[in-house]
Amino acid sequence: MVRKLTMTSAFLRRTLHSPILNLDAIRRQFPLLNQQIEGHPLVYLDSAATAQKPQAVLDRMEKFYTEENANVHRGMHVLAERATVAYEGAREVVRTFINAAHPEEIIFTKSCTESINLVAKSWGRNNLHKDDVVLLSILEHHSNIVPWLQLKEEIGIKVKWVDIDDRGQFRLDHFIDIMDDGGVCLVAITAQSNVLGTRPPLKDIITKAHEHGAVVLVDAAQSISHGATDVRALDCDFLAFSGHKLYGPDGVGVLYGKRELLQAMPPFLGGGMMIKEVRSDAFTSADLPQKFEAGTPPISEAVGLGAAIEWLGQFSWKDIEAHEQALIAAAIIELRKVNGLQILGHPVGAQNFAPVHSGCIGFTIDGIHPHDLTDILGKKGICLRAGHHCTQPLHRALGITASTRLSVGIYNTLEEIRSVPAAITAAQSTLRSAFPLR
Ligand SMILES: Cc1ncc(COP(=O)(O)O)c(C=O)c1O
Repeated sequence: MVRKLTMTSAFLRRTLHSPILNLDAIRRQFPLLNQQIEGHPLVYLDSAATAQKPQAVLDRMEKFYTEENANVHRGMHVLAERATVAYEGAREVVRTFINAAHPEEIIFTKSCTESINLVAKSWGRNNLHKDDVVLLSILEHHSNIVPWLQLKEEIGIKVKWVDIDDRGQFRLDHFIDIMDDGGVCLVAITAQSNVLGTRPPLKDIITKAHEHGAVVLVDAAQSISHGATDVRALDCDFLAFSGHKLYGPDGVGVLYGKRELLQAMPPFLGGGMMIKEVRSDAFTSADLPQKFEAGTPPISEAVGLGAAIEWLGQFSWKDIEAHEQALIAAAIIELRKVNGLQILGHPVGAQNFAPVHSGCIGFTIDGIHPHDLTDILGKKGICLRAGHHCTQPLHRALGITASTRLSVGIYNTLEEIRSVPAAITAAQSTLRSAFPLR
């Protein structure tokens, strides 16, 4: 039986009852949220997959296409000038947002995945040799695994893994042991698990890695929309994220890299705009950031991302974090009442709530496949994600093949969270009557 929780902490008393943000006003800015699915109000709890977009982003992209659209860094005409100003303006917004020292340290890519691939294929191929170690955590998304396994096949590097404990927390002791064994040239680490919501202690990891001369790449795909990111305070060497999880459009990602590292790296893709000069037998690369922005970049998408960051800037991270922690704490309390449901990284009886899980929680339910569950919930308008969430090594380590994920964004309400357990219980009885032997 699930142990009853005693909600004694001031944190829970405060956060579970008082609205921190003006949610009515926020939700009015997300037109998509205001719809019914088969007669049920839409309950969007899948922001870890992609966040919905506020009207400010939609308007900014429409303005770009109706008033400013042209290619960037090419033409001399008025539209080319407007488009270039808008695109470079977005770079400056991103620079400020993550506190990078120089605009040329911000590279626009198509996604977080492409940003990580850029590091693997450019920095990795140039700096890693056979038997060098790339250290990952078992929490990683496939985007931060496969590029390194490709280098393992290509160059013969070694890929090593840091374990998690039974709370889904990165094991710093294990990390230190592997670092002390030697040979680690790169630590590629998520800032926040996209399944458990747990956050490795980045500052400790980066300090230790640097003591050993290793470079650190941070995958900030999930953390970027849930708390402040300060690349200079972190002192990370690279940091990657996507626009679409940050209330911006898809098709644009960001790679931050320290200037001296990026300057020493060869281009990733070849084509227009990434060159200084091309002759029939050779080329020279453009300066940063163009060296890594071959071809026509995601212009309107970068402008939309800039608008998303500016829109988010009207709220304080303190309020966003408090609001989302309240949602996650409520989700844990409510979901634990469902028969046979286990929250991943949250053993029965554990009383330490939201600060352990940011942005999302993953769970399993005895006898119900996540795909069946989310299919039924989807028809009631409740959008959760099911599957391995591109984290097969993590799922294997947890002894499962799939899980269900509930993830939150700035626009979610406690009422939405509280609607989920009853819907799951109803789905359980639907499935039990359809498949009585389960
Ligand atoms: C932790 C993490 N890293 C990387 C990615 C890849 O992001 P994208 O698909 O936008 O490239 C995701 C996407 O879900 C993620 O959750």
